[in-house]
Amino acid sequence: MRQVSDNLKREAARMALSQVEPGMRLGLGTGSTAWHFVDLLGEKVAQGFECICVPTSERTAEQARGLGIPLSDLDQLDYLDITVDGADEIDPRLNLIKGAGGALLREKIVAAASNKMIVIADVSKVVEQLGRFPLPVEVNEFGFGATMRALKGVLLAHSAEGEATLRHAADGQPYRTDGGHLIVDACFGRISTPEALSRDLLDIPGVVQHGLFLNMCKTAYVATPDGVRTMQRGD
Ligand code: 5RP
Repeated sequence: MRQVSDNLKREAARMALSQVEPGMRLGLGTGSTAWHFVDLLGEKVAQGFECICVPTSERTAEQARGLGIPLSDLDQLDYLDITVDGADEIDPRLNLIKGAGGALLREKIVAAASNKMIVIADVSKVVEQLGRFPLPVEVNEFGFGATMRALKGVLLAHSAEGEATLRHAADGQPYRTDGGHLIVDACFGRISTPEALSRDLLDIPGVVQHGLFLNMCKTAYVATPDGVRTMQRGD
């Protein structure tokens, strides 16, 4: 089953790679699907393909370096052509939940600096309405108690069906992002007004960023057992 899902992820990644042209500036996403894109790009680079890339996490940077993919950052590059990344949920408007891999802040910074964001995923990520997947919220450690109380208020105001919980790493310690922040996973069940929820979360001073990616993704390549489906956002 896992092998099937992995094959689908690779097919979606292959579609995204077909959009990449020589000399492009690329954002490299994080997660098991983005891993395939970086791996395929590495094969192309080994054959002499030229590009320059900004990774969205230390994990992706390490993978890319290992494959000889040239890396840069958003201090050196003033924009990127395309960012290719995975997602935890994709709705019909191509709004997303991201951040299960804990890289949502860098992912959002990189996607926002890109002319185009392409999402690659297997079909299990497509939903009618966002919210079944817990929404990751990156928070500053300072004042965590106050931030948590404010977050609970936002959950209540948006009729959340579940709780907000601090994410832990495998060693039992609070999970730390590459930026040293904490992550709270907020279980809404259904998110009926994502724009309002986004504003309410960002209004909390201790919230660094959240995993709702609204109006950012233009194209999603969704791999199904019958082939890769293209979802396009109409502007
Ligand atoms: C990491 C992310 C990932 O893109 C998202 O979690 C999807 O990961 P995967 O491709 O492993 O399912 O947002 O922060």
